[in-house]
Amino acid sequence: MDMKVCRMDFLTIEQNILDPDIWNLSKDSAYKNWREKKLKSAQKLKNAPFINIRNLANPSLEEIKKLAKYCSEINMALYQTSPKNNPDEVRSDLKKFTEKMGLKIAEKHRSADRDGIVAITPTDKETQRAYIPYSNKALNWHTDGYYNDKKEQIRSMVLHCLSPANKGGESQFLDPEIAYIRMRDKNPEFIRAFMHEEAMIIPENLDERGILRKKSVGPVFSFDKKSNHLIMRYTARTRFIEWRKDKITKQAVDFLQNLLLQGDEFMRTTILQAGQGILCNNSLHNRSAFEDENNKRLLFRIRFYNRIGKVN
Ligand SMILES: [Fe+2]
Repeated sequence: MDMKVCRMDFLTIEQNILDPDIWNLSKDSAYKNWREKKLKSAQKLKNAPFINIRNLANPSLEEIKKLAKYCSEINMALYQTSPKNNPDEVRSDLKKFTEKMGLKIAEKHRSADRDGIVAITPTDKETQRAYIPYSNKALNWHTDGYYNDKKEQIRSMVLHCLSPANKGGESQFLDPEIAYIRMRDKNPEFIRAFMHEEAMIIPENLDERGILRKKSVGPVFSFDKKSNHLIMRYTARTRFIEWRKDKITKQAVDFLQNLLLQGDEFMRTTILQAGQGILCNNSLHNRSAFEDENNKRLLFRIRFYNRIGKVN
């Protein structure tokens, strides 16, 4: 059964509805079927190509279908288009591109401009300089918006490169469904611990302007009420975070940190080049430190409230 989320002039973007029993820890058969299919499609990640988009502002139906297909199978798609130097032009193209993909921009990020587009580049701006994304330091594993409350959960995002660093700035991506599988296979109690409503607490965040974000308390794993898709809220940071104080939560945190550190056959590593981008259903990701001349590394990021749908 499918749920229509967006109708456009020439295509319909739909959201698959999953069997809720997949996530039921006391019913293993739905999980096993889903797991088998998922691990099979995850193989596609290894050779997933950069899909060519001839005109980012107006992708063809075939291009949209390809992107949506990869996103439905491995929760991410890589793409490339002709590089453009004018940031305003790229902003406009990206906005049109994401509209064509049926995505709803989450505009509230404090660093976003009025279009909801955030420039990820080293900066001295007072409001951003204390934050690692806007430096050349390594950025630890996380899903985007892990501090958002339930009503504003980030389901997908796009990262588009205008200019890479001279050296470094490599990102790794891991499908949250693969992280879920690794944890459930190791010990289903890890999943139960991560589904707890108070599993992960991010204390309120103060900066020189006062309180920007209130304390965020919630699970690592939750499920979309309508589509039953997995939602993951996670950060590997070790400061300004509290985990629920019980033994199994601690073991679950250690297991996931080790998995991310040691790597998984389905991790994808890439350094985005000018004109290249990644569209994903909020996959886990990180970034290595980089060296640059004149702060030239520039990526645009947009976050969305909805998942990337399937195109019919
Ligand atoms: Fe991120």
